[in-house]
Amino acid sequence: MSLSQPHGGTLVQRFHPEANVESVEKSIELDAFSLSDLELIGIGAFSPLTGFLTEKDYRSVVESMRLENGTVWSIPIALPVTEEKAATLSVGDVVKLDHQGETYGLLTIEDIYQPDKELEAENVYRTTDLAHPGVKKLFDRPNVYIGGPITLTKRVERTKFSSYYLDPKETRAVFAEKGWKRVVGFQTRNPVHRAHEYIQKTALEIVDGLFLNPLVGETKADDIPADVRMESYEVLLEKYYPQDRVFLAVFPAAMRYAGPREAVFHALVRKNYGCTHFIVGRDHAGVGDYYGTYDAQLIFHHFTREELGITPLFFEHSFYCKACGNMASTKTCPHGKEHHVILSGTKVREMLANGVTPPPEFSRPEVVNVLIKGMQKKVEV
Ligand code: ADX
Repeated sequence: MSLSQPHGGTLVQRFHPEANVESVEKSIELDAFSLSDLELIGIGAFSPLTGFLTEKDYRSVVESMRLENGTVWSIPIALPVTEEKAATLSVGDVVKLDHQGETYGLLTIEDIYQPDKELEAENVYRTTDLAHPGVKKLFDRPNVYIGGPITLTKRVERTKFSSYYLDPKETRAVFAEKGWKRVVGFQTRNPVHRAHEYIQKTALEIVDGLFLNPLVGETKADDIPADVRMESYEVLLEKYYPQDRVFLAVFPAAMRYAGPREAVFHALVRKNYGCTHFIVGRDHAGVGDYYGTYDAQLIFHHFTREELGITPLFFEHSFYCKACGNMASTKTCPHGKEHHVILSGTKVREMLANGVTPPPEFSRPEVVNVLIKGMQKKVEV
């Protein structure tokens, strides 16, 4: 078996730094969220998308988790603009895509339309509650969507952990060079705790390599900052992982917190990066109590193996069991809850902020040290 085919069959490549942007008059100012979408479309991470969704594709994605042509796609990648801005634009216009005084791309307008945000929230996030960070973001953003193909003309400059930014073309080359035929992708927006490590290593038993691919785009304010997390991944991998079986690179996307739908999206994108398998554990990409523990696994049953083109690996809620003396899940452990070390993310953040060390059954001490230092630095700033 060779590496996964990109979703839709071709790895989209729309980075053209030579494109002439000077002569283009009209422009749209992108927020950080859209800028990250633009770049991810341009480098093929969102293959087969070649631009921001047109109305037909948007409606189809919202209603049926597919593009109009039937290809599975679960998250609408839309470009919102204000009504005032939209009034200055026409179908057929070529516009610059700017961010803070720089042009990053071009877009040929194919469509200008009104989204149905209520329906989008209901279908994509399964709630219209504004306390949900993804829903809040959806309603905070402007109310007209622009669709059409893009060209990426400039890459976003990275000052922090820049060597970990690899395009799908590059990660595919890395995996091929390592001779990995079966690669499991792991999405995370958190430090890697023992439960994560357990499911990653369990997966590693049946594949050739692990692609640790933390999301480092926009996250909610109380998530642990990406630079602190990156340092924690480095110390963990160095000490506890076989160097020739794991590869770390970042996923520069924004977090949507769309739970089940985002799990499918995360899997398809990792397929574009060259993964053949993708880990989905408990409440993947969830927030609060909006989703059932395994909803993000159940959603995969809507699709056939062929149309997904990547194999999801599902894991039960894992924990350290003191009676077993190792990591386990209810699938493998016969003991009661009183033997299990389970800490919520909120609880751990609280402990770290107060300089309290979470137990080694929950998190490796090396990781904890990095997190405590990082959290304290954040407090001092
Ligand atoms: S996510 O928003 O990126 O999904 P997180 O970084 O916490 O959040 O999770 C990364 C992956 O690990 C997800 O697939 C999630 O389902 C899984 N996961 C997290 N904690 C556990 C756990 N205790 N047991 C099993 N799977 C888990």
